[in-house]
Amino acid sequence: MVHEAGSGSDGRKLIRSFGVLQLTMISIGATLGTGILVILGDSVPLAGPAIWISFVIAGLAALLSAVSYAEMAGLVPVSGSSYSYTYATLGEGMAWICGWCLVLEYAVSVAAVAVGAGQYVNETVSAFGLSLPDAISQPPGSGGVFNLPAMVIVLLAMALLVRGAKESAWINTAIVIIKIVILLFFCAIAFSAFNSGHFAPLMPMGAAGVSAAASRVFFSYIGFDAASTAGEEARNPQRDLPRAIMLSMVIVTTLYVLVAVAAVGAREWTWFEGTQAALVQILQEITHQPWIAVVFSVGAVLAIASIVLTVLYGQTRILMSMSRDGLVPKVFGRISARTGTPVTGTLIVGIVVALTAGLIPLGALADATSIGTLFAFGLVNLAVIYLRSKRPELKRSYRVPLYPLTPILGSLMCIYLMINLGGITWLVFAGWMLVGFAAYFGYGRRHSKVAQLSTEEYRVLATSTFDDEPMKVGQR
Ligand code: ALA
Repeated sequence: MVHEAGSGSDGRKLIRSFGVLQLTMISIGATLGTGILVILGDSVPLAGPAIWISFVIAGLAALLSAVSYAEMAGLVPVSGSSYSYTYATLGEGMAWICGWCLVLEYAVSVAAVAVGAGQYVNETVSAFGLSLPDAISQPPGSGGVFNLPAMVIVLLAMALLVRGAKESAWINTAIVIIKIVILLFFCAIAFSAFNSGHFAPLMPMGAAGVSAAASRVFFSYIGFDAASTAGEEARNPQRDLPRAIMLSMVIVTTLYVLVAVAAVGAREWTWFEGTQAALVQILQEITHQPWIAVVFSVGAVLAIASIVLTVLYGQTRILMSMSRDGLVPKVFGRISARTGTPVTGTLIVGIVVALTAGLIPLGALADATSIGTLFAFGLVNLAVIYLRSKRPELKRSYRVPLYPLTPILGSLMCIYLMINLGGITWLVFAGWMLVGFAAYFGYGRRHSKVAQLSTEEYRVLATSTFDDEPMKVGQR
């Protein structure tokens, strides 16, 4: 990248304020939410009681990619996440493809996640005997005009991000604590009604059902890499980013398996067919206390709101990196002198995502998010292998264990989960990539800062990429 990392396209600096705790919280904040609160209930009928095995399989794919992210985050500690890692290793074309997939992972998933929040907003108001009319709580095609709760959540998150990253991170930390507490609370109640007989037979839908559910619940692991988009706002990114990514993965996987076992232990797997907000219903049926459902639903809305906040943050930082390189318009990289944040980029992304969340239904959005993310994760695994063979001498602050087995297995797991996602999702993905190619050849390639360099300048830039070890911020 031509501009100094840690600055916008106009050269202004981001403020370095995050330590390992805040980075871990950003990661958990972006991960833990709709997947466990909404998609768990949808996936139990696919896998049967073995749903917890699906969570372990999806978690394994995410964990293997997470260690590759950790190695790359320690080497290329700038704001662009896998986009920057790919740029630094596999070149601009692959970086564009990766960045374009990340738009699916971030912007589209924010929309999907915010739509999930609508269900819990309805659960909360219905406990008070009220209900929102479909016209303002459902998207077109599902009996409504627009999904107001989802849009409001996105716009509130946008307003917080415009004010400044530090306050937003502080609020995020508080919300992360709340959602871990409500999930542990769910486990405590559900385990009080635990019936081990619910686990036999373990796989009534066979291994294929467990695999299909693994691809579906993969959505619940998306987001751990959000910490890596905060590389330029971290005090010690080389040390803290790998730690934060690994720590958040361990915490999240443990919680998911615990919640899945508790849920199936409390209710037979066939009970989940057609349920909405299954966890709240389990709580209500066990305790017969409506206030418990209200507390849980409010917590769930907060949980989902925190994802919207952190993922929206991640998207603005990735676009900032891409704008520094000239691949997307400069406006996404402009940092405001007053707030120290990319205000205009945040407003544009926020409004587009709010409209998407308000107008498009959840299902297809979630699967499209997963396929884009799996593709980007696959590229990061490849980037680790490429860099280890091209530049083995680089001092890495974190090294993937059991190399090369880990990144090879990581890419294979990503391919396996992508294959399970089905034909329509693949068509959507192909369409998305075609639009991406058109945008690259129509804009990005002609405005690319790297492409405008002379051959000699390019050679100097390319060969100086990793001259300092580990690579310093501002070097690519
Ligand atoms: N992992 C995020 C969620 O489950 C996208 O909501």
